[in-house]
Amino acid sequence: QLRQVLASRHQAVQTLVATALSMGGKRLRPMLTLLSSEAVTAAPHRPSSRDQQDLIRIASAVELVHTASLAHDDVMDHADDRRHQPTICKLAGNSTAILLGDFLFPKAYETAARCRSPLVARRIATASTQLCEGELRQQLSARNWQLSSKEYYSMLIQKTASLCSTSCRLGAWQVGGPACQQQALHRFGKLLGLAFQIYDDWLDYWGDEKTGKT
Ligand code: IPE
Ligand code: IPE
Ligand code: MG
Repeated sequence: QLRQVLASRHQAVQTLVATALSMGGKRLRPMLTLLSSEAVTAAPHRPSSRDQQDLIRIASAVELVHTASLAHDDVMDHADDRRHQPTICKLAGNSTAILLGDFLFPKAYETAARCRSPLVARRIATASTQLCEGELRQQLSARNWQLSSKEYYSMLIQKTASLCSTSCRLGAWQVGGPACQQQALHRFGKLLGLAFQIYDDWLDYWGDEKTGKT
C-alpha cells in the first residue's frame, strides 16, 4: 500500500521516495493499528474486505505521518544517521528533505480520506497537528533550562503519544470495537508513546552507538 500510494511518474521523485521507503523502521504505529483491531473482543463479525482495506489505509496513513515527521525532524536535529543509515537530509540535503516531508504529509491525508468514513481523515489530521504543535513547542523551548517536567510531558504527549493513541484507537474503531475498548486502547497508545519517547530521550544522553544514537 505504501509503495502504491507513493508511486510517482517522475523518476527523480520515485527514486527519492523509494529510498525513504527502503529505510523503513520498526513500523510500530501501523502495527498498533492492526493489533488493536485484533484486540477488540466485541467486534460483531469478522471485518469485511472493505473494512480490511480501510484498516490498511489507516495503517499506511499513520506511517506516512510518522515518516514525514522524521524527514523534518532530522533536518531540525542536524541528524546524519537514522536506523544505522544516512538520513534523507544527509543524502539529499535539507531542502529536499523538507520538501519530501511536505510531500508525505498530504499523502497521509489523501490515504486517510479514501476511507469510507470521514472520521478517519479527521482523526489523522488531528493527530498530525498535535505532532507538529509538539515539535514546534519543543523547538521554541530549546535552551529553556526552566522547562518544568509537566511542560515536558505535555510536549511528549503531543509530539509522540498522540499518533500512537490514534493508531490504536482507529484500529479498534474500524472493526466495530465497543467504545470502552476504543478508549482503553487509546489510553494504552498514549502511555506507550509517552514511555517510548522518555526512553528515546534518555538514550540521547546515555545510549551508545549500538542503539543507533550518535
Ligand atoms: C522515532 O520513532 C521517533 C520517536 C518518536 C522517538 P520510531 O523509533 O518508532 O521510528 P522508526 O520508524 O522505528 O525508526
Ligand atoms: C522524533 O523526535 C520526531 C517526533 C516524535 C515527531 P526525536 O528527535 O525526539 O526522536 P529521534 O531521536 O530523532 O528519533
Ligand atoms: Mg530527532
